[in-house]
Amino acid sequence: MAAGGPALLRALLVAALCAVPWRAEAAIGVNWGTVSNHRAPPGVVVDLMRANRISKVKLFNADPGVLRALAGSGIQVMVGVTNDELASIAGSQAAADDWVAQNVSRYVGRSGVGIRYIAVGNEPFLTSYQGQFQSYIIPAMTNIQQSLVKANLASYVKLVVPCNADAYQSASVPSQGVFRTELTQLMTQLAAFLSSSGAPFVVNIYPFLSLYQNSDFPQDYAFFEGSTHPVVDGPNVYYDAFDGNFDTLVSALSKIGYGNLPIAIGEIGWPTEGAPSANLTAARAFNQGLINRITSNKGTPLRPGVPPADVYLFSLLDEEGKSILPGNFERHWGIFSFDGQAKYPLNLGLGNSVLKNAKEVPYLPSRWCVANPARDLDSVSDHMKLACSMADCTTLYYGGSCYGIGEKGNVSYAFNSYYQQQKQDPKSCDFGGLGMITYLDPSMGECRFLVGVDDSKSSAVASCGGGCCGVCCGLWVLALWVLTYLRMMGSA
Ligand SMILES: *[C@@H]1O[C@H](CO)[C@@H](O)[C@H](O)[C@H]1NC(C)=O
Ligand SMILES: *[C@@H]1O[C@H](CO)[C@@H](O)[C@H](O)[C@H]1NC(C)=O
Ligand SMILES: *[C@@H]1O[C@H](CO)[C@@H](O)[C@H](O)[C@H]1NC(C)=O
Repeated sequence: MAAGGPALLRALLVAALCAVPWRAEAAIGVNWGTVSNHRAPPGVVVDLMRANRISKVKLFNADPGVLRALAGSGIQVMVGVTNDELASIAGSQAAADDWVAQNVSRYVGRSGVGIRYIAVGNEPFLTSYQGQFQSYIIPAMTNIQQSLVKANLASYVKLVVPCNADAYQSASVPSQGVFRTELTQLMTQLAAFLSSSGAPFVVNIYPFLSLYQNSDFPQDYAFFEGSTHPVVDGPNVYYDAFDGNFDTLVSALSKIGYGNLPIAIGEIGWPTEGAPSANLTAARAFNQGLINRITSNKGTPLRPGVPPADVYLFSLLDEEGKSILPGNFERHWGIFSFDGQAKYPLNLGLGNSVLKNAKEVPYLPSRWCVANPARDLDSVSDHMKLACSMADCTTLYYGGSCYGIGEKGNVSYAFNSYYQQQKQDPKSCDFGGLGMITYLDPSMGECRFLVGVDDSKSSAVASCGGGCCGVCCGLWVLALWVLTYLRMMGSA
């Protein structure tokens, strides 16, 4: 033992230091959107990710508060060029240079934000955009790539384009997959670009939406537990929508000559309310099934043993400021509620068997606004409409956690939602004398009456400064300890 000690310890030291990249290898990441009226401070959210060992995050823009909080966290970051920024970047090298300088260069390097990807646009080929962003993509990528070269970041930061799965289609089975005709040429250019820089094709896949939009869609085909309606495609049999969709893309890529291009999943997930099939049980089953599938490295029939490069769950947090045009569920995709509380047990496959909740969330005081029981509510409807149009009432509808709480319950919920959104400004609980502030939590069963978050503190500094935090710091301390021990052994 004594003789083997130093060698063993040296081996341990090497192993410990080499183990640092394990964080970069974990395939499961998250999307962090911030369209919320109750934004937990970015530092709290970064701590939440680190407590859950999440090492990859995809952002939809380049919010300075968010990026500052990610400094020194060891988390790998994808920042986003928004669709509205595409035209100017595509049209001007100087605009691209400026974008990279403002949103990338100043954060990488010394300040230590691990920006490894830039998403150029978000689902820019979505059918409903009717082609308005299409022509910007390749020129924008070319310009940004130039900017990265100039900034000496080209080998560190890669460009990707998150695509909606509506970029491709199939008349019947996955092997028939093709890109939409009008996109064929563009997709060929995009695939060539990605292939030459070693970046993956990024696609967003939503079995939930297939089920939601199509009453004939076999429910069990949306999940991962096998299906009584498998899709037979020659020698291949598909038992779930994810595999079928993924291989439709593989086929489409093969047809343009890029059948081996790595694929990453930019968004995938299941909402917890806002539609009958959006509920906690289904969300848990889908996300756990997905994670188990990915971490088993099983791959798909067309790519056996080759799981997606990365998978970013949609989403980390609920965002109750999002448009409900797609449906009420749009505000409820989080594996955590808006304030970082786990909605259901989930093993992310990253080392913790369940999710850990956010800590030190700066809630507003425990106060709620409800309908004054002494007042008759005949004239309430305009007030309620206003409250719901400004704040969030999606939980009140069929398929929501507050459905069925009665008329008075509905009014109180709406009043409170608005009051919290207004940061508990007493005037916002007036409603022509129909509202009343209470210190008793009016939550009923599953229906939670929220207390807002004080996001005036949203620039709170992440709890780990100086680039030494969590695993990093642990390894550093371990290395020091081992070196000290080796020195002791040597001098003994
Ligand atoms: C990104 O950079 C551009 C400059 O090209 C700047 O106008 C924009 O505000 C930056 N984005 C963010 C979110 O700071
Ligand atoms: C939850 O959603 C699943 C999947 O669509 C559905 O089968 C189930 O009935 C729903 N559960 C409840 C309680 O609504
Ligand atoms: C409460 O609001 C929801 C959504 O508008 C509605 O479906 C439900 O019928 C309302 N309940 C009562 C008792 O008015």
